[in-house]
Amino acid sequence: MLRVALLLFLSLPVNSTFGAAAPGPTRTPRTSWKRKDVSLLEFSEPGTFNYSTLLLQEDKGVLYVGAREAIFELNLRNVSVMNRKAVWNVPDKEIGLCAIKGKSKETDCLNYIRVLEVQSDDRLYVCGTHAFQPMCDFLFLGNFTLEGTQEDGKGKCSFDPAQSFTTVMVDGNLYSGTAYNFLGSEPIISRNRHPQGTLRTEYSTSWLNEPSFVFSDVVRENKGSTTGDDDKIYFFFTEVSVEYDFLGKLFIPRIARVCKGDLGGQRTLQKKWTSFLKAKLLCLVPKTGFIFNTVRDVFILKRDDWRESVIYGVFTSQWDNVESSAVCAYSMSAVQEVFSKGKYMQKTTVQQSHTKWVRYNSILPTPRPGACVSISDHQQGINSSLDLPDKTLQFVRDHPLLEDPVLPIGNSPKLIAKDVHYVQIAVERVQALDGQQYDVMFIGTDKGILRKSVVFEDEVHVIEEMPLLSKSETIKTLVLPSNGARFLYVGSDSGVVQAPTALCEKYSTCEDCLLARDPYCAWDSGKDSCVSFHQEPNRPPQDFIQSLKGDADQCPKGTKLSCQAYEQMRVQPGSTFKLPCQLGSNKAKAMWKFNGKMLNSSQLHQYSAAGLVIYSMGPDHQGCYECWALEEMGDRSFSWLLHGFQLGLDLRPQSTMAGLDRGLGRAMVPKESSASQPLGPNDSVLILAPPIHLATVPPVANTPHVEPGEASANYLQSNGSTTVLLFFTLLFCFLFLATVSYNCYMQYLPGPCLSMRAALLGRKKSPPQDYQPCETGLVGSVAQQKRANGVSKDVRDTGCEKGPSGAPPSHTACTSTPTEEPFDADCERQPIEYADADIPP
Ligand SMILES: *[C@@H]1O[C@H](CO)[C@@H](O)[C@H](O)[C@H]1NC(C)=O
Ligand SMILES: *[C@@H]1O[C@H](CO)[C@@H](O)[C@H](O)[C@H]1NC(C)=O
Ligand SMILES: *[C@@H]1O[C@H](CO)[C@@H](O)[C@H](O)[C@H]1NC(C)=O
Ligand SMILES: *[C@@H]1O[C@H](CO)[C@@H](O)[C@H](O)[C@H]1NC(C)=O
Ligand SMILES: *[C@@H]1O[C@H](CO)[C@@H](O)[C@H](O)[C@H]1NC(C)=O
Ligand SMILES: *[C@@H]1O[C@H](CO)[C@@H](O)[C@H](O)[C@H]1NC(C)=O
Repeated sequence: MLRVALLLFLSLPVNSTFGAAAPGPTRTPRTSWKRKDVSLLEFSEPGTFNYSTLLLQEDKGVLYVGAREAIFELNLRNVSVMNRKAVWNVPDKEIGLCAIKGKSKETDCLNYIRVLEVQSDDRLYVCGTHAFQPMCDFLFLGNFTLEGTQEDGKGKCSFDPAQSFTTVMVDGNLYSGTAYNFLGSEPIISRNRHPQGTLRTEYSTSWLNEPSFVFSDVVRENKGSTTGDDDKIYFFFTEVSVEYDFLGKLFIPRIARVCKGDLGGQRTLQKKWTSFLKAKLLCLVPKTGFIFNTVRDVFILKRDDWRESVIYGVFTSQWDNVESSAVCAYSMSAVQEVFSKGKYMQKTTVQQSHTKWVRYNSILPTPRPGACVSISDHQQGINSSLDLPDKTLQFVRDHPLLEDPVLPIGNSPKLIAKDVHYVQIAVERVQALDGQQYDVMFIGTDKGILRKSVVFEDEVHVIEEMPLLSKSETIKTLVLPSNGARFLYVGSDSGVVQAPTALCEKYSTCEDCLLARDPYCAWDSGKDSCVSFHQEPNRPPQDFIQSLKGDADQCPKGTKLSCQAYEQMRVQPGSTFKLPCQLGSNKAKAMWKFNGKMLNSSQLHQYSAAGLVIYSMGPDHQGCYECWALEEMGDRSFSWLLHGFQLGLDLRPQSTMAGLDRGLGRAMVPKESSASQPLGPNDSVLILAPPIHLATVPPVANTPHVEPGEASANYLQSNGSTTVLLFFTLLFCFLFLATVSYNCYMQYLPGPCLSMRAALLGRKKSPPQDYQPCETGLVGSVAQQKRANGVSKDVRDTGCEKGPSGAPPSHTACTSTPTEEPFDADCERQPIEYADADIPP
């Protein structure tokens, strides 16, 4: 199946494969929070960086953090509170040695703490890169000091702080996937600190071929299992494929596993794994054949019965010019099926030199190669892997790769996101009010954004996104406490952040609360607010309303407020101002009502939803304004009142120039009303033109960006005593023209003026050209800007999902087809276009 997909994939250009048939369930986050909306708690120490290792200890209420040259103990309830700190730096002598080998003294040759594991109740096991000479040590929790035993960390921790790497502690043994040498060229999966000595992988490309390790975890056999099968440790990584013929390196995401009870072989595979097997993880869009072939992170959602455990992985593509990510989920029973029944692959030599991997079809030795030693083996006198027959061991040494892939649940990605790189994932299974359980995915991006989605039977709904890091940097680690998590914790190069798992109280109306479809949130009719109902376990469920289908009709019908209850605003006649209305949801549209009637599209010009602009306040504008949100959910549509205003004229005397104020009513609105805000240059607004002059103001109507000058012009038309003002305006214009002409004549003004002067007074030299469309500097800066914004370089890619640093997606963005940018159009043949391209080797 993969082969077919690859063929498909290779026969088409990458971009069109992906861009043409917008594949699968791409989703826009319903709500995009700003960083200030979210109450985050942060920790960082001046001069300390790379807070990339996090270890949660819920029972102790602490979070251990491994950073560069330091280990911290933070308070789990408030990470801003540091309890204790231990410093572990590298002696100068060793920094010197490291520098001699060509590494940077200021960065590479420091000690990056990369392993933090619980060794016992009172000790942690800690490893650091230690100037490219990995070391491990114990941290006493009683006095938070290092023992100083400086164990060799080779094979347990990476040499290079930037190299990918994974570890997991299982029953006091440290399992690691890392590089075994200084150059990082010898990959190894090993078990350390075991009484029987270290066990490791064979050094062979068919075992591991340039892997990038991302995750490892243990999956335990069920308690009281009758098969007596062993606990298994799974490793996830991306490696260069050996089984496909490909020009250059083709990456393949893998799942590998070893058995906990493995002791290596007696003669064959001495001190090596006898249970190492690996298979490919498939994350592919069936319709287009597009493959996400790089696994970036994995989370195993564990259940009491391991068969029900689910592996969630985030994937990206090797071809980075398609900036997109996917989430694929795999059931543990499917994984077990592949490892226990799958076919093996075999290397054969064709035409003496060329090697090819094909399916092994002959008879297998018994016991099955790579299987854990279980009760049935004991009956045949095989008590441990040391008793396994040579035939089985030789076979597994030469055939560590299984042919059958592990297919995702539903045979396709759960979620696809464009213009974003997902790099971290954690999942919690949450009980909703309906008694059902839903998986909520927390996904971190390389731009410091967290996205939260809920997995339904037939779709994934992206609830919200929030920026967690102040700078646009990658989320290095994301950890979630095991159950009923109120907070999650994120590590990055610059610090640690604690973020709430839900922002229920930010939803101000019942409709908004229900349409969010967040399993953590429910509407509390008694308190008239959206709450995180798990935090109130003593209240009966009937106190709350929740609809994960988004049925907002379940909301109580509010008593209709009279206009008097709305925000009162008094506005000076003739002023122009904005009635603000903030839509919380990216999926909602704003709708305005004036005195109970919808404002028709003939009367107003809808650009977006930040507010309604009223030009030149007159008596006709007095009345009751309501801003409604309108949101579609499936084939239904819900609306709710967001904001109401009662608008009246302020007839108090003001300074004489008030009517000509150019600041869109900044001075006009009484100070006590905070509702009206000055327009920013980027505010998109609804514009309500004065009804009586509708026919005369089309220029205003067609301009999304409000020009203050037009406001005063408008005023002139609608006011009776305009003659005097008109006179002054004309006088001013005349004086202005006179000044310009004089300066032009005196050659004080450059450019177009000179050409006019030349035309009138005779040409002396050709006017300088003031704009060159294809100036390289201009094109370069446009291209750079695009890259800096993290926007995909593929112009055809019209993702509806919000980019990590882009503006919130508007509902219109999804339907409009993208047009080529004017700069690009003119400069198609600029070499910059090619310099940018990321062509796979
Ligand atoms: C967290 O701790 C910091 C530092 O002690 C303190 O300023 C802040 O108020 C605390 N926040 C909460 C929510 O407890
Ligand atoms: C810290 O505690 C451990 C064991 O409790 C002890 O062996 C060690 O000497 C103590 N270290 C210091 C610096 O007090
Ligand atoms: C450590 O943090 C610094 C500062 O943010 C960053 O430049 C560097 O790349 C980080 N190093 C590693 C190995 O993550
Ligand atoms: C396996 O263990 C049993 C008892 O525990 C012992 O009698 C038997 O000899 C062992 N078999 C081998 C091959 O060591
Ligand atoms: C708006 O349009 C509807 C029908 O499209 C019409 O019935 C209504 O009178 C209009 N309202 C105004 C204020 O023009
Ligand atoms: C207006 O938009 C431009 C580009 O979209 C952005 O660079 C600028 O910061 C925005 N200005 C304000 C005040 O939001």
